[in-house]
Amino acid sequence: MRKIIKTATVIAAASTLALTGCGRQGGSSSSSGGESKGFEKGSLIGVALPQKTSENWVLAEKLFKNDLESAGYKTDIQFANGGVAEQQNQISTMVSKGAKVIIVGAIDSKQLGTQLKQAKDAGATVIAYDRLVENTSDVDYYVAFDNYKVGELQGQALLDGLKKKGSGPYNVELMAGSPDDANSRKFFDGAMSKLKPAIESGQIKVLSGQKDFNQVVTQGWKAENAQKRFDTILSGSYSSAKLDGVLSPNDTLARAVLTAVKSAGKPTPVITGQDSEVESVKLIMSGQQYSTISKDTRELVKQAVTMVNELQADGKAKTNDDSSYNNGKKTVPAFLLKPVIVTKDNAAEVYKNDPTLSKIAK
Ligand code: BGC
Repeated sequence: MRKIIKTATVIAAASTLALTGCGRQGGSSSSSGGESKGFEKGSLIGVALPQKTSENWVLAEKLFKNDLESAGYKTDIQFANGGVAEQQNQISTMVSKGAKVIIVGAIDSKQLGTQLKQAKDAGATVIAYDRLVENTSDVDYYVAFDNYKVGELQGQALLDGLKKKGSGPYNVELMAGSPDDANSRKFFDGAMSKLKPAIESGQIKVLSGQKDFNQVVTQGWKAENAQKRFDTILSGSYSSAKLDGVLSPNDTLARAVLTAVKSAGKPTPVITGQDSEVESVKLIMSGQQYSTISKDTRELVKQAVTMVNELQADGKAKTNDDSSYNNGKKTVPAFLLKPVIVTKDNAAEVYKNDPTLSKIAK
């Protein structure tokens, strides 16, 4: 599967992080969303967001509201901080209010089957946003940064950061996101594709022994769960040993680990992240967090709204990768954007067009 994605014709506009590719051959009319002929201007668009587990979701809400409404649509944009049942109800409400497109950032990728079927039965188009929905054929499109690639970049950054510290072997601990988020596995598998050879050769040692996805997940993407797990690992396996590196799937969890490391009185390990959160970019600039990932939410929302406009006009949206993201029931036509790794070395360049981060990364 990864080979296919690597050879896919995607056009990267490197400095803006966005892919501005036109639909790849066969990519623009391959989904069930392509059968209808568009819908009335000014229709209702539903956006179902998960919990506010990272800054990107908060920003997405604001951008969706602004971008959809200035394009003339009515909106119903909801967070589901109460959990899966709340998100299910919100989607059902969007369907009964007649939403023409429902954009979904799922809390639990496998728990929306009934509601998405309702959406499809009512004639709406379903776009999975950032997180794939799984085990359902009732999803038309996927728009996201390439999340397997995110994992590969994280794994490689960890190896690079460790190398800068000396020749190893290195003591490293692994961490993954919430198991109900389809992205968590992608991030972890991508990272492990880079780290596994070093673990197998003994160059990387995992003193806790926790190397499998299910052993290293962080329920709900919650900082307190990551911190607790690392408190235990540090006191159990690192009372005399040094912790050289940590694979962290995002910035919020990286900061939680750094808190645990600090309170154990240990030196800062090489640690990865994701999302370019303000506090983490500060930590990168001061040398405490090694890397993050830039997945510019402005670009992702913009692409999602472009797809809504295409659907409005003629009932189908352009995609640029129709072969990489299978959800267990179907391969979902996707528009993938390109994530970028950020360390202290390239932060100023990557964030130069970001009004907030350009002031931090100078
Ligand atoms: C997103 C990440 C985010 C995480 C927690 C994932 O699905 O892709 O960007 O850090 O959710 O909110």
